[in-house]
Amino acid sequence: MRFEDIPQGRLYAELAWLMPVITPPQDYAGEAACWRAVLREGRVGAGAEVLELGVGGGHNLSHLAAEFRATGVDLSASMLDLCRALNPGVELHRGDMRSVRLGRRFAAVLLHDAASYLTTEDDLARTLETAAAHLAPGGVFIAAPDHFAETFRGPALETSRHSQGDLRVQYVEYAHDPDPEDTSIEVLMTFIVTKGRETRVELDRHVLGLFSRADWARLFARAGFRMETRAFPLAGLDRPYELLVGTLGAPGETPGEAPGETPGEAPSPSTSRAAP
Ligand SMILES: C[S@@+](CC[C@H](N)C(=O)[O-])C[C@H]1O[C@@H](n2cnc3c(N)ncnc32)[C@H](O)[C@@H]1O
Repeated sequence: MRFEDIPQGRLYAELAWLMPVITPPQDYAGEAACWRAVLREGRVGAGAEVLELGVGGGHNLSHLAAEFRATGVDLSASMLDLCRALNPGVELHRGDMRSVRLGRRFAAVLLHDAASYLTTEDDLARTLETAAAHLAPGGVFIAAPDHFAETFRGPALETSRHSQGDLRVQYVEYAHDPDPEDTSIEVLMTFIVTKGRETRVELDRHVLGLFSRADWARLFARAGFRMETRAFPLAGLDRPYELLVGTLGAPGETPGEAPGETPGEAPSPSTSRAAP
């Protein structure tokens, strides 16, 4: 079977039920603590309105939803159903983060690992415009791409095991960069699912974006953001956990890049999720 014959995006459609098994919400506690720290530094107080683009099942958001009034947007109806079940108080909209306009502004806009689904510079630029269009004056935009061009080393193989009740899932992920000249990589996901005596194999393929830090900074600036990088140590991760933090320039000020590695304190000693 050729890679291109493997169907794409099944994890956010008919395989969405696997998400809480392979990435349980509790695994996001450490990451969410980093997001909370950046929100507090940006003076986003308890009760403030926050918007997450590409909210998925709302696993990261589930650790923030009690503190903030949250709204989420996602392309996938199946993922929105999962998010609704986990986060009953969160307002949800089906939409494309590259073009959605909710017609109101938020104290913070969050773009967690859905950032990885922006595969071209145009996709990325349009999503940053969406973030800017939804941010109130003085607000904070936070993005967390899974990979940067400088740090991705492919082909990379990762495996993990998960269980929930009588369900066992062995997950194998193969990430590679078929064309180093473009801004995307390809990830093959294999799920070996055992329930009772039956074992099935499910395959899925995802095309993810791969941009350099300089590309991110340039596109942040084009959308009107000053960008700063906050790096946190996170248990279970072999590299710092990096959040790109954007603030809109004051009226009349030329937005620019203010890159800097600001090593953060580990907000809580928690493990990071394994996959995907
Ligand atoms: C890895 S999941 C997000 C998981 C989420 N961060 C969490 O904590 O549960 C990625 C999500 O991005 C969504 N997505 C991908 N492209 C999108 C787009 N253009 N607009 C909106 N959502 C998108 C997918 O439907 C999927 O739900």
